Amino acid sequence: MKVIIIGASGQVGGAIMRLAPKDWETTGTYSGKPKPGLIHLDVSNRKEVFEVFEKVRPDVAILSAAFTNVDLCETDKERADAVNVSGPLNICDASVKHGSKMVYMSTDYVFDGENGPYREDDAPNPLGYYAWTKLEGERITAFTPNHLIIRTTGVYSADPDSLNFVMQVIKRLGAGESMRVPSDQYGTPTLADNLAEGILTLLTLGKTGIFNVAGSDFMDRYSFSLLIADIFGLDKTLITQIDTPSLGQKARRPLRAGLIVEKIEKEAGIKMVGAREGLMFVKERLNASR
Ligand SMILES: NC(=O)c1ccc[n+]([C@@H]2O[C@H](COP(=O)([O-])OP(=O)(O)OC[C@H]3O[C@@H](n4cnc5c(N)ncnc54)[C@H](OP(=O)(O)O)[C@@H]3O)[C@@H](O)[C@H]2O)c1
Repeated sequence: MKVIIIGASGQVGGAIMRLAPKDWETTGTYSGKPKPGLIHLDVSNRKEVFEVFEKVRPDVAILSAAFTNVDLCETDKERADAVNVSGPLNICDASVKHGSKMVYMSTDYVFDGENGPYREDDAPNPLGYYAWTKLEGERITAFTPNHLIIRTTGVYSADPDSLNFVMQVIKRLGAGESMRVPSDQYGTPTLADNLAEGILTLLTLGKTGIFNVAGSDFMDRYSFSLLIADIFGLDKTLITQIDTPSLGQKARRPLRAGLIVEKIEKEAGIKMVGAREGLMFVKERLNASR
């Protein structure tokens, strides 16, 4: 099977690329940060998208690329539109042309966070511009036959290049820096390797439609940061509990978000791991790379 992973230089795309079955012919792409073995693709450049699809002729196109800075999406709507709306549209059209199955990475931010965690068929109601563009991407993807829409949230990994929350806590507490962490933002933190395993299993099984692929523990960010400190032997007293408004963030956050993973566990027969198990995995990875 020929698979193109668009955004393989990112945290999620990188994990999918790394864990894809060895007998799949994978092509990974980057946009701004070249990485060895990846080819360039800017999803907002329609001509380039069609050229790359013509060259690769993928059976499956996984769109993991996005403008992921939630607050910058509020101030740079032009870029958010180009990458997160025109991007999926270009990939959708190229996928239809080449008969490729389109897989789209989405988020629990499509919900308003009034009563999470959410199931796949709950009604979206995005609060911010990033969230709105991601929902538009879902709607565009739904035009392609046999599509797969993956919703995830709060992804972390042992990737030292990534700015994921777990690596930030480890780096900052490890350097003796203090952190202010909101205790009113709830989610289901997700181990990138487990997310990739979920996506690859769904693809292997030929599943279509929307699937939540996330961690199995529903918890607030402050409690998660304390658990990280606990597992990595870091100083918990450096963490101060705050509420979301005092962070002064540009984009509104869905406060009670997170995703229920019953559907993937039942239909794909895999286990989505909880926070402690995910963090132990990251710890082993970091120890092994030392
Ligand atoms: N991380 C999370 O917690 C989370 C939660 C929910 C949903 N998601 C979704 O999951 C997906 C992957 O997230 P991630 O954590 O891997 O993000 P990430 O680490 O920020 O990576 C973003 C990727 O998108 C690429 N990209 C950015 N602009 C592009 C463009 N114009 N054309 C082509 N590629 C472009 C980047 O390439 P360069 O770096 O080479 O520029 C990078 O490979 C996104 O769709 C995101 O919305 C993530």
